[in-house]
Amino acid sequence: MYKARVLENGELTSSIYSLVLSAEDSLLANFLPGQFVKIKVSSGYDPLLPRPFTVHAIYDSAFEILYQVVGRGTKAMSRLKPGDEVEFFGPLGKPFPRIEGSYLVSAGGVGVAGFGYLCQGLKPEFSLPAKLLYGARTSAQLVKLDFFSTLLPVEVATDDGSLGLKGTVADLLLAELNKQSYQAILACGPKPMLKALAELGRTYGVKIFLVLETLLACGTGYCLGCAVPSRRGGYFKLCVDGPTFDAEEIDLEFLR
Ligand SMILES: Cc1cc2nc3c(=O)[nH]c(=O)nc-3n(C[C@H](O)[C@H](O)[C@H](O)COP(=O)(O)OP(=O)(O)OC[C@H]3O[C@@H](n4cnc5c(N)ncnc54)[C@H](O)[C@@H]3O)c2cc1C
Ligand code: FES
Repeated sequence: MYKARVLENGELTSSIYSLVLSAEDSLLANFLPGQFVKIKVSSGYDPLLPRPFTVHAIYDSAFEILYQVVGRGTKAMSRLKPGDEVEFFGPLGKPFPRIEGSYLVSAGGVGVAGFGYLCQGLKPEFSLPAKLLYGARTSAQLVKLDFFSTLLPVEVATDDGSLGLKGTVADLLLAELNKQSYQAILACGPKPMLKALAELGRTYGVKIFLVLETLLACGTGYCLGCAVPSRRGGYFKLCVDGPTFDAEEIDLEFLR
């Protein structure tokens, strides 16, 4: 476990928060886009297990995560103040695949959290995506638009049409695939969105990589608590084989 100081913690929307933690540059140098950390959100035993979060962005001697408040752990996190100390371990999981050729990143809701570091372009071995397709229920739920817009072209969809296309990320992707061909799509978001994108990928013959979530316990491959069914039978362990998977390799029933 590493110790970190809370540098900033605050609400971006009514349920999505940003947490910036201090960390040694020598440790941050080991982080690769797509990996995650487990954060022990309180010094006591409640909640007992550290919670997993994708690294959103890397700065000088600090990293940021974006988190949605859904339960006890994230509620406790939302109460952290600058100067508080937390423990974390990582980096965990496999980084994003290295994609040659033009590719898109597609995010729904807090799923955008995982793409900041990739789009910052801090690791030259990971090429930059051509565009971010980003959807949320309303414009008020879209976070870090200014941050992403300075890094790459961004297209937005909202369910209520309050910003960008009135529709979903799948609608944005469909329009994009009808205009231009891409080598691959990297997607993170709610299961129905991932399923729709996986189906579009199949129809258009484009490789789709899905960033998945499960409940997580050990985070290091020992407890089998993070099973993702494989299309060929058997299971992957999300914490060591993922969290990013080729959509063709997993059983899409997982996304129901
Ligand atoms: C590899 C990985 C990376 C993640 N990255 C992020 C991130 O960047 N930002 C973010 O906001 N969240 C992320 N998550 C999800 C986040 O870890 C959970 O939301 C968090 O652990 C919930 O903790 P809690 O104590 O607040 O909720 P709990 O009290 O533990 O649970 C509240 C409710 O949420 C459900 N739940 C909890 N975790 C998950 C999950 N992983 N999948 C589905 N349902 C769940 C529970 O079943 C319960 O119904 C990630 C998960 C994984 C596995
Ligand atoms: S969480 Fe224990 S094996 Fe993945």
